Amino acid sequence: MTEPVGVEVTGRRHLDRGWEEELLVSVLDGEVSPQRTEVRGDGERHQSEEGEHAHSRPGVPPRHRTGAVSRSVLVDAPSGAHPVGPSDRPPDDGRYPATVPPTPEFIGDHLLRIGDIRFHYEHPLNHVPPDHLGIEKVRSLLEAYFELWNRLRPRRVVELGIRRGGSTAMLCELGGAERIVSVELSATRLEALDRYVAARGVPDVVHPHYGVDQSDRNRLARIVDDEFEEAPLDLVIDDASHLYDESRASFEVLFPRLRPGGVYLLEDWRWEHMMAGQLAAALERDPVVRREIEARIVAENRIAPDTPMSRLVLELVVTRAECEDVVADVVVGPFWAAVRRGPAPLDPQAFRLDDHARDLLHVLTPLA
Ligand SMILES: C[S@@+](CC[C@H](N)C(=O)[O-])C[C@H]1O[C@@H](n2cnc3c(N)ncnc32)[C@H](O)[C@@H]1O
Repeated sequence: MTEPVGVEVTGRRHLDRGWEEELLVSVLDGEVSPQRTEVRGDGERHQSEEGEHAHSRPGVPPRHRTGAVSRSVLVDAPSGAHPVGPSDRPPDDGRYPATVPPTPEFIGDHLLRIGDIRFHYEHPLNHVPPDHLGIEKVRSLLEAYFELWNRLRPRRVVELGIRRGGSTAMLCELGGAERIVSVELSATRLEALDRYVAARGVPDVVHPHYGVDQSDRNRLARIVDDEFEEAPLDLVIDDASHLYDESRASFEVLFPRLRPGGVYLLEDWRWEHMMAGQLAAALERDPVVRREIEARIVAENRIAPDTPMSRLVLELVVTRAECEDVVADVVVGPFWAAVRRGPAPLDPQAFRLDDHARDLLHVLTPLA
């Protein structure tokens, strides 16, 4: 008889109106039970019946417990895994500050100070202390941002996914940007970000747009074209839904609006793999149960009901293989996949990846 095995992994995905869905996939005694809990920004929780059932079951105590393995639990890898070199900076017209002022300073586990602005960084982001701006990132990811910013020196920036406003304010504090347009699905205006903008006197730089879905192609295109008057972007950061369809839609709108050499970051591109990997690793000691669980995960799509985000990264690699003048580089690191735009002219109204990633060798579609 197979011994009972228990393991849990968790992940979060963002829902509408400030709610998030926390997904806990547990395996107890060979049974895969996804538990979905809706969590609101203020901490209110609503558990689904499926979840209550899954957890009230008198189960075997987990033998392997991976703990709260969020899709954001990222290895402390060296930063800088991105394709940006000094030659990718926009032409120097003397308007960019010589150094990035002031130097970001980490204090303790969750406090980042840039000048007199205090940020509370944490992933997942929970309670943000008063007078702090909340950033949902780990320290090594923040360090990767500082390095990228220094090398790329972006002026025109689009950020998808605002959450508590801290990442938007941080980008502004890194200096040199003439406009940062940030887009958020939740329609609730963030007072903390408004207070920051007023206190720092940067209403011309920081322009948040609430209640905008990253997959709404027309609206996103309108916002960006109005904001930048069709001047090309230097940097796009997609830290919004982390879902394939949504991310691909905004990629197709924004990538052709980058300048050649501009960079598109797809954050958290591998979260589904991390969850599945944790689950598989924890079951390693019991190959029979492991095979059974893996088969069920695949058959029932238990972990990732949508196409995983990594598919978009693979499509971009195929685009790089077939059209290097469209995608100059794809550098895949622990935090993000960084996609650098090539020199080919791209029609912002009609750009579709399928026209470039034709996958002539069937890399993405196995031959029947
Ligand atoms: C990971 S958080 C962003 C974290 C923020 N950039 C930071 O570093 O603190 C993701 C955000 O994207 C938003 N979001 C989720 N789906 C979205 C969508 N389809 N369009 C726009 N924003 C979305 C969520 O409401 C959430 O605020």
